[in-house]
Amino acid sequence: MMQPVSSHSADPMATLAEVAASALGRICGLDGVDPVVRPSDRADAQINGAMALGKQVGRPPREIAEELVASGALDGVCSTAEVAGPGFVNVTFAPAVLTSAVVAMATDDRLGHESTPAPRTVVIDYSAPNVAKEMHVGHLRSTVIGDALARLHMFRGDTVIRENHIGDWGRPFGMLIEHLLDLGADVAAEGIGQGDLDGFYKQANAKFDADPDFQDRSRERVVALQAGDPETRELWNRLVALSTEYFNTVYGRLGVLLNDDDLAGESRYQPMMADTLQRLDDAGLLSQSDGAGVVFPPGFTNRDGEPLPLIVQARTGGFNYATSDLTCVIDRVERLDADLLLYVVGAPQAQHLEMVFEVCRMAGWLVPPAEAVHVAFGNVLGNDRKMLRSRSGVSVKLVDLLDEAIERATAAVGERSGDLDADAVAEVVSAVGIGAVKYADLSTDRVRDYVFDWDRMLALDGNTAPYLQYAHARICSIFRRADVDRAALRADIGDVVLTENAERNLALALTGFAAVVDDTIASQSPHRLCTYLFDLAQTFTAFYEQCPVVRADGPVREARLVICDVTARVLSTGLGLLGITTPERM
Ligand code: ARG
Repeated sequence: MMQPVSSHSADPMATLAEVAASALGRICGLDGVDPVVRPSDRADAQINGAMALGKQVGRPPREIAEELVASGALDGVCSTAEVAGPGFVNVTFAPAVLTSAVVAMATDDRLGHESTPAPRTVVIDYSAPNVAKEMHVGHLRSTVIGDALARLHMFRGDTVIRENHIGDWGRPFGMLIEHLLDLGADVAAEGIGQGDLDGFYKQANAKFDADPDFQDRSRERVVALQAGDPETRELWNRLVALSTEYFNTVYGRLGVLLNDDDLAGESRYQPMMADTLQRLDDAGLLSQSDGAGVVFPPGFTNRDGEPLPLIVQARTGGFNYATSDLTCVIDRVERLDADLLLYVVGAPQAQHLEMVFEVCRMAGWLVPPAEAVHVAFGNVLGNDRKMLRSRSGVSVKLVDLLDEAIERATAAVGERSGDLDADAVAEVVSAVGIGAVKYADLSTDRVRDYVFDWDRMLALDGNTAPYLQYAHARICSIFRRADVDRAALRADIGDVVLTENAERNLALALTGFAAVVDDTIASQSPHRLCTYLFDLAQTFTAFYEQCPVVRADGPVREARLVICDVTARVLSTGLGLLGITTPERM
């Protein structure tokens, strides 16, 4: 559905929607009409609003559509407007509308996207690996999608608070700390620093299973940790710091925004959890079941159709993952004043999060305008369409994946990096390798599983990061060859005249940028931006095959340079919003 829009000259679609809405309103004697303006294969745009309006006012839609065209209301925006089928209106934008949109984009740092007049405070919960456990591809997805959403919301003009809700609390920490002591902190540091987190965890677990004495020590250690024993706390800090240092190296390699200031692990909420329970009790929501503290949000049942409880306090008195998530919501809404909470968490946790959100609504902690959204994502599959596994059959370590990305990008880029120096090659390799992995993740609808396929994600043709990066680098090389300074070009734009079809198509594609950014944010769906950028790059390729730029003259050359400049900026800004860099040479 079309959002109500203000007229911004950089988006002809929005201008058309506005004009059509008021004209259709007049024709039907209604207010707040949705003109249903869409891009179309057959024209620049299609106005479909007459269909629903016909039903509403009891007139044939075609008649309304004809009246719209005859009214002349569209004349300023469109050079042609034709009624088709039962009541669609196919339009072509007037040349002046397209060129002024392109000029508006060319002279605007934000490429025609207006930051929101109503900024929100958005907490984005993402990445969230577990201390002393390996980061796996699920954490990769959360990290990459969350990072894109953080950048998009910042671009929108929202206040963005990133929270990395790491798993840094719970019973296993007793045995982990004891194992750290047994090994000696330095030896442990080396293993963990090298990313052998699973090894450390598994050793501790094996000892726990085999050694009753170790079991006892571990249990005592948990009690000491919970009681705030200073020495235990210190050891725990050590363990957390070793893991987060390692996480940071992964974040650094991935080029995501997360840093230590964003850490908001489960441990942080421990001191507030008793209060959370008290508040649930005060609200009359807390009940006891088998000695455990539970809440029954309506609408959730188990397989036998019985009400499903959210367990908030174990029989032992301890708090858990749910208590931590409830406390988080309180903290985010009441202390941080957030009105949008995004949880970038795998689809299998949907029920857990829905129950948490529902309990928060019941308790009055999550009331409009504050809302929480589970930004769910599917699995990463191997070429065999089963869960991605390494050759040895275990789950794939994130770092191994990044190493391979760089290796493969080196091979791919190396073949054609003829005139680049070593630094430039390293930059391109990292942009392409990491960009390919991120883009493969972001370009499919996040709720679906996707197949992790190296050859496909690194291909130079197809919906891939390297294809888009290459299109961008190609435009930069046009400017080098034409010896034109891009900033100077923008500062002094004359009349932009677009006569060729391929020029027009490119201009039209460019003007869709602002709307697709808003749509991507509203749906938390980065793949929509990817699809747009891919279409744009293809439209550019078609343009470039038909319209020489460097060899053209006069105003034709200037106009082509302007649309090339805007295309390159839309590609680099768009990919930048996805956390992907765009080198100027490849
Ligand atoms: N640490 C959890 C995991 O690795 C993810 C936490 C997601 N965030 C949350 N607020 N529950 O599965």
